[in-house]
Amino acid sequence: MSGGVAELRQLAKLAEARGILPLFEENQQRAADFSISFDGMLFDYSKTHLNVAARTALLDWAAERDVSGRRAAMFAGAPINETEGRAVLHTALRNLSGEPVEVDGRDVMPEVRDTLARMQTFAEEVRSGGFVGAGGTITDVINIGIGGSHLGPDMAVRALSPYHDGPRCHFISNVDGADAVDVLHGLDPARVLVIVASKSFTTTETMTNAATVRDWMAEKVETPAAQFVALSSDEETAGQFGIPPDRVFGFGDWVGGRYSIWGPIGLSLMLAIGPEAFTDFLGGAEAMDRHFREAEPAENMPMMLALTGLWHHQIMGFPTRAVLPYDQRLSKLPAYLQQLEMESNGKRVALSGETLDMPSGPVVWGEPGTNGQHAFYQLIHQGTQVVPCEFMVAAQGHEAGLGHHHTLLVANCLAQSEALMRGRSLDEARALMAESGLEADELERQARHRVFPGNRPSVTLIYDRLNPRRLGQIVALYEHRVFVEGAILGINSYDQWGVELGKLLAQELGAVLSGEANAQDKDSSTRQLVQFVQNWRS
Ligand code: F6P
Repeated sequence: MSGGVAELRQLAKLAEARGILPLFEENQQRAADFSISFDGMLFDYSKTHLNVAARTALLDWAAERDVSGRRAAMFAGAPINETEGRAVLHTALRNLSGEPVEVDGRDVMPEVRDTLARMQTFAEEVRSGGFVGAGGTITDVINIGIGGSHLGPDMAVRALSPYHDGPRCHFISNVDGADAVDVLHGLDPARVLVIVASKSFTTTETMTNAATVRDWMAEKVETPAAQFVALSSDEETAGQFGIPPDRVFGFGDWVGGRYSIWGPIGLSLMLAIGPEAFTDFLGGAEAMDRHFREAEPAENMPMMLALTGLWHHQIMGFPTRAVLPYDQRLSKLPAYLQQLEMESNGKRVALSGETLDMPSGPVVWGEPGTNGQHAFYQLIHQGTQVVPCEFMVAAQGHEAGLGHHHTLLVANCLAQSEALMRGRSLDEARALMAESGLEADELERQARHRVFPGNRPSVTLIYDRLNPRRLGQIVALYEHRVFVEGAILGINSYDQWGVELGKLLAQELGAVLSGEANAQDKDSSTRQLVQFVQNWRS
């Protein structure tokens, strides 16, 4: 463990003893000093325990771990995904600058631009009715994919619903047949476009769902393959599925699945909002890339978001972080960030292969406000665990005539971060109980239940409006946050070996359940569960 971390842990002890509110009394400029503004967004991390000394120590830690060197290596196309020997260049997919981006000495931008142009042409054809299904204009699009080939498009399509002027988009991801059946119910196969989204084009869930949907379509459509497109970095396997090359949109292996929304995997979003708005989405992300590369560390939004994350989890020891968008249309953002953060930084060994000397990335979870307030906020305010919260809210909504809803939404968001920080002391609770007429022992007993410890940290990301550009910025902000946290922890944020063992065992158990193998090598619990299923299925 570096001296920097030991010093930070010392500072954290002092910070916890001091609390958050006194920091505002000490520094009248605290809100401004502990905030970063960039292009329509304000990131306020002043309601945390961080003071100047702790922030400086965190920035020193980032410098000591050479975050800027690793960032330069990523943008330069170095194979920083070392366990897979790959570059990490999702940023090339949103590089609208005309600058080259090289992988192994080859500029990949002509290929990226070509694919984007093909996507745009195809999207226009579908949206204008030039590309039709057996029954006429395409009214509905189904994206079949899972993980990074599902969560990003699903999240972004929902987030930008005010900008939809294309076909309706649906998503099938789970291998549970219920997902396909419920989505297909009521759709006209002759007017559906199916997108098979799979970087590898081998993922069991996606291939199973794609075959099921093809069969469903074949009942009414003579050549279902004519209504299928594929998004994959394995164009050959996609071709073997029966999708011709002109309807396969490929991308390089230097785009990780959970970072792939910016290219072909974003096709459903492009179909929904149109190529122009999709370009705005890319433009927002590109602007965040520039900011990340150019802004000084202390003024750098992804850097400071990452450092507050590390401060809360690795230094102060808070086990989880809640992402709480006060934006119903960001309802899928927590799930999206779960994959982005937990699949990227949920690693127990460093790049060197050594076991990490501190916790890996935290558990990330959340739900939109205000719904969460009526569910789990009780624990956040009064539970024994501290949950650092990441609030998000737009200054303006899209709902003309419903401004009063938006005022309530924003008021609730701001109230929560204030309540978490401020809390309510026992004396304040006693005064409240006295006002309500209680006395003596009953007053004392009731007052204790109404105490809020306060000093619970949160950050707030506030922006003008959730438009395509802003969404692009927000997603890129979180991607770079994950990068910085991974760089400081010394791990590879771009592989995901932890998902492989379960896949392997599922294959074995699939054979057991279908009677092709027996379970004799399995533990007694697994055998018992298999037996239970077999009893009910036979
Ligand atoms: O199993 C995990 C994973 O590989 C994710 O990393 C990925 O996003 C998802 O599966 C889907 O993979 P593919 O796009 O290759 O179907």
